[in-house]
Amino acid sequence: MNIGPYALANNVFVAPMAGVTDRPFRHLCKQLGAGYAVSEMVTSRPDLWDTLKTSRRANHAGEAAPIAVQIAGTDAPMMADAARYNIDRGAQIIDINMGCPAKKVCNKWAGSALMQDEALALAIVEAVVAACAPRGVPVTLKMRTGWAPGHRNALAIARAAEGAGVQMVAVHGRTREQGYKGLAEYDTIAAVKAALRIPVVANGDIDSPEKARDVLAHTGADAVMVGRAAQGRPWLFREIAHFLATGTTLAPPLVADVRRLLLEHLHDHYTLYGEFTGVRTARKHIAWYIKALPGAEPFRAHMNTLDDGQAQLQAVGEFFDRLGAQADRMPAHAPGPSAAPHEERMHNDKNQEEAAR
Ligand SMILES: Cc1cc2nc3c(=O)[nH]c(=O)nc-3n(C[C@H](O)[C@H](O)[C@H](O)COP(=O)(O)O)c2cc1C
Repeated sequence: MNIGPYALANNVFVAPMAGVTDRPFRHLCKQLGAGYAVSEMVTSRPDLWDTLKTSRRANHAGEAAPIAVQIAGTDAPMMADAARYNIDRGAQIIDINMGCPAKKVCNKWAGSALMQDEALALAIVEAVVAACAPRGVPVTLKMRTGWAPGHRNALAIARAAEGAGVQMVAVHGRTREQGYKGLAEYDTIAAVKAALRIPVVANGDIDSPEKARDVLAHTGADAVMVGRAAQGRPWLFREIAHFLATGTTLAPPLVADVRRLLLEHLHDHYTLYGEFTGVRTARKHIAWYIKALPGAEPFRAHMNTLDDGQAQLQAVGEFFDRLGAQADRMPAHAPGPSAAPHEERMHNDKNQEEAAR
């Protein structure tokens, strides 16, 4: 499929996740089969553009095209400026965030809260399209099904956005009020797909190749977008893409390959964040990679005591050496709730707000 002039490698996408889908992780997901990745959201507040967090997010050095940047905010002219700012720094596609439930994505409500004010949502879309169109940059939109169970207005907003020139819409099958609770529903996504001519992407609770197939079949969507299930499991993209293309299941990856790619991931992570911050922020990724493996819990506790990159790399290497002595391949993924308790803490509003600042 295409977004504007960009042909994508396949229709299995990484969902934007603030604090997770940074440049190293996006790179890894693309290497391991993701057809498309959008950056973590960048605030539309110019006073924050010079912060370390935003300047890291707006740096796309070495990133494979198309470079897609998500912007978040509540003021149409500011969002247009944010689009121009990111285009000047290499963005080839601009994605508008109407999907994040955090209360303070910017200086006040933004993200999926925008869905409560359809006129403002449309004004933002129009302003961003007007800023991007002269530069030949496609605009996409990410949203939820609505803002509350009785107010599922994704269809109205998607139609208006298409009319305003948006070139792709991604829908997470939950309302804003749900946060991450309950199950994603796909009927609203199917209704959006049926009504639009532009590509529609289905998102929410997709955690296996079979689930991806079922959601595509149910919604008729053009692509799937995977978030939490890819944390610590970036090879899920090639597993899904392979299954969708062939109907057959890939064997789980070799322990030796996961050892190598995790160590490479850590090196890239330290390069982006510097060793001090990098070692600390890498802990959550390490915990995700090992969460289903024997000895995960004591190892995670041990990780929190290590403060330098060399020690972290060595401990991770030894953990996977011990695992490799017992089995050649990673255990097959056990389907079930996508979030373990410590992950739930990372997915709640408070942490997303923290990540968004
Ligand atoms: C830690 C975390 C951070 C997120 N950050 C963003 C974000 O910056 N922008 C956005 O549109 N959605 C964000 N989301 C929502 C995801 O893109 C996705 O819609 C949601 O997780 C549902 O997909 P999943 O069930 O595959 O995880 C975030 C989700 C998580 C768990």
